[in-house]
Amino acid sequence: MKDILEKLENRRGQAQKGGGDARIEAQHKRGKLTARERIELLMDKGSFEEFDTFVEHRATDFGMDKTKIPGDGVVTGWGTVNGRQVFVFAKDFTVFGGSLSETHALKIMKIQDMALKTRAPIIGLFDAGGARIQEGVAALGGYGEVFKRNVIASGVIPQISVIMGPCAGGDVYSPAMTDFIFMVKDTSYMFVTGPDVVKTVTNETVTAGELGGARVHTTRSSVADGSFENDVECLLQMRRLIDFLPSSSEAPLPEWPSTDDIGRIEPSLDTLVPDNPNKPYDIKELILKVVDEGDFFEISEAYAKNIVVGFGRIAGRPVGFVANQPMVLAGVLDSDASRKAARFVRFCDAFNIPIVTFVDVPGFLPGTAQEYGGLIKHGAKLLFAYSQCTVPLVTVITRKAYGGAYDVMASKHIGGDVNYAWPSAQIAVMGAKGAVEIIFRADIGDKDKIAARTKEYEERFLSPFIAAERGYIDDVIEPHETRARIVRALGMLRTKHVERPRKKHDNLPL
Ligand code: HXC
Repeated sequence: MKDILEKLENRRGQAQKGGGDARIEAQHKRGKLTARERIELLMDKGSFEEFDTFVEHRATDFGMDKTKIPGDGVVTGWGTVNGRQVFVFAKDFTVFGGSLSETHALKIMKIQDMALKTRAPIIGLFDAGGARIQEGVAALGGYGEVFKRNVIASGVIPQISVIMGPCAGGDVYSPAMTDFIFMVKDTSYMFVTGPDVVKTVTNETVTAGELGGARVHTTRSSVADGSFENDVECLLQMRRLIDFLPSSSEAPLPEWPSTDDIGRIEPSLDTLVPDNPNKPYDIKELILKVVDEGDFFEISEAYAKNIVVGFGRIAGRPVGFVANQPMVLAGVLDSDASRKAARFVRFCDAFNIPIVTFVDVPGFLPGTAQEYGGLIKHGAKLLFAYSQCTVPLVTVITRKAYGGAYDVMASKHIGGDVNYAWPSAQIAVMGAKGAVEIIFRADIGDKDKIAARTKEYEERFLSPFIAAERGYIDDVIEPHETRARIVRALGMLRTKHVERPRKKHDNLPL
């Protein structure tokens, strides 16, 4: 028995070393942790149980039969994050550059299947060079199997991808089908084809960072939902994110004890909206003052900043926040903002996370760039996403709610359950200037007349009361009581239950 135990220990020790000391050192020199070090940081101490430690590839071409490394370039298993079960796979760049072979794919598939069966979140840590070139189509088949599982699990369990090194070729599509992608600044990049292929095909010269670094994907392409300074910060933030998410679409929302008073009054909110309707203010201040303990996890912070989305808690329970940001482009809805918010709203609805929407929107952004870019379809995504929601929807209009954007931003008409307005709300087809110039076009030359008409329009239409008179707004609330009113509304809506007609699936405007 002693011999067998020693043998086990030796084999485990060999597997723990991955691609060996030299490659581990090279990994550290690049500012990256190894796959196992990352898992240690992500999971609760001592909770990680590894599967398939001894799996090796079965390839024989190109001398591969002489280079077998236990684990085959990916560390897989399960553990807990703050006591809650989570599955994980981490690509080991020190073993064949983390590239995906047939057996490597089988290890990931096993973890995906277990996560789905047990209805627990799955996190993938990527640091890899794509398909194992020596394996050819066997690797491509493996990717396909992983992709299919991503899709089957979508909307059932949360799936998170973290890019912590190269992520190229076949490796990019699995993350793309998960709920969130996060990257590490400077050490990670993501692209379908790398700089060399780009040069050959298009004659463009770009670096890996310029082509697919964290900055590109969080600010331009919107492929990634956020980035962090280094591996440690990134993994600790993933622990924080998991705390906001239910384990599956069937699981209860995670509740965390909160010391924040549910009736907390915030007098400073009474002066948040400036007297001048064209002056901006920071909507994040409202979010931070409403959520428990000011704890807000923002998603896609650096992209389409004219809308803010992210997770917070109200009375200890997770809530998704969507808010127009008057500080950027006056909070207008454009294609990027619509897509960003739509995806977030759909995630919340899939996982039963109630949504609180703060509205200050002057409308959709006009112009050829937007129209040619498909604003109609992109705007429709947000409209579709909200209209489809069965989760509690609480909406607060703080200032402008103009035109189609009024309807889109979780209005009563498309499913808002409780719709409040601050006294500063202006709910109308459009702002006074535009409206007067259209309906009183004949008076345009007469300054006094136009001024009088504008004043008349402002007094009549730029208030919450016409909407409130129709019941489109349930109440006009004072800004300082916003948190307390949202707490009550969400409490009342906890038992919300709506049925929709049975269908195979909808046809979301993609
Ligand atoms: C096998 C690979 C590999 C791969 C890297 N390695 N990528 N082995 N298959 N795809 C190995 C290297 O041989 C090397 O082994 C070790 O990993 C580290 O690689 P380096 O090149 O030394 O590292 P670095 O300079 O940091 O460059 C990393 C890299 C580069 C940018 C990822 O390795 C690279 O470009 N790899 C190929 C990327 C690629 O084209 N993949 C195929 C994509 S096609 P040693 O033994 O020296 O340590 C694809 C199609 C799937 O994925 C489509 C499905 C839908």
